Amino acid sequence: MARSTIRDPRGSLAARLGQSSVAARIEGEMRVTAAELADSVAEARLKVAAVRYKVEDEVRSTADKLMSRVSDAKAKFGDDARFLKSWIDDPLRTGSVTPSSPFLARRMASFVDPDQPGPVIEIGPGTGPVTEALIERGIDEARLILVEYSPEFCKLLRERFPRATIIEGDAYALSTTLAGHLPEKATAIVSSLPLFTRPPAVRSALVKDAFTLVVPGAPFIQFTYSVVSPVPRKGSGLKAFVSDWVLRNIPPARVWVYRRAT
Ligand SMILES: C[S@@+](CC[C@H](N)C(=O)[O-])C[C@H]1O[C@@H](n2cnc3c(N)ncnc32)[C@H](O)[C@@H]1O
Repeated sequence: MARSTIRDPRGSLAARLGQSSVAARIEGEMRVTAAELADSVAEARLKVAAVRYKVEDEVRSTADKLMSRVSDAKAKFGDDARFLKSWIDDPLRTGSVTPSSPFLARRMASFVDPDQPGPVIEIGPGTGPVTEALIERGIDEARLILVEYSPEFCKLLRERFPRATIIEGDAYALSTTLAGHLPEKATAIVSSLPLFTRPPAVRSALVKDAFTLVVPGAPFIQFTYSVVSPVPRKGSGLKAFVSDWVLRNIPPARVWVYRRAT
């Protein structure tokens, strides 16, 4: 009788064992590959996030810079437009078609000693370029007393310099205008008034009145586009100093500094 062979459909034990160890190896390798793949994906995601963060950061900072330039330009052109309108409304009172440049404003402020205590009076501040230069020089805003005739400019000055004292009034009647607002004698007077639109006697009277409001030795600082002193000097008893021309201003201007001769 022929020997019958019972065949295991799944193959011999050895074969089965061989197959399962190959399968286990393959499975193990697949697990490692899957884990490595997951790591690589996570790493790539982190890199993408870092790049996105950097790009977003750069876009944000460029946008901030642009916005600040736009608002600077808006403020500058806004002031130019306000000034021009004020000049069209009243050319003799405004005295100029544009605000003073920062160069002229700084030159004026340079004659005020920030270490001298006491109020600093500014007359004819307009949109505030000289005020800004005084603060930049180290004079605390709260020490500033600004006398401006135009209600529109006063409104703007109150917004820009909330800690300063803003008085809407006539600087040609200085003692009267400042009555009750000057806690002690001032340490300097800085004037941008268009003095040449007034007769010499009115200018002399203004300066004489101004010197009653300041401590001895205090300067009265005034800019002018003219080649001659805007304050009549003959018989005034004033010492005067004049700066060189500030060319970076339209038109070029000089700064006069007057003091009472002792
Ligand atoms: C030539 S602008 C100078 C403005 C600003 N300080 C500048 O430098 O750009 C003269 C300023 O004096 C003001 N002003 C003219 N007459 C005035 C007066 N009697 N009292 C007070 N302010 C006066 C004008 O309204 C104007 O703001």
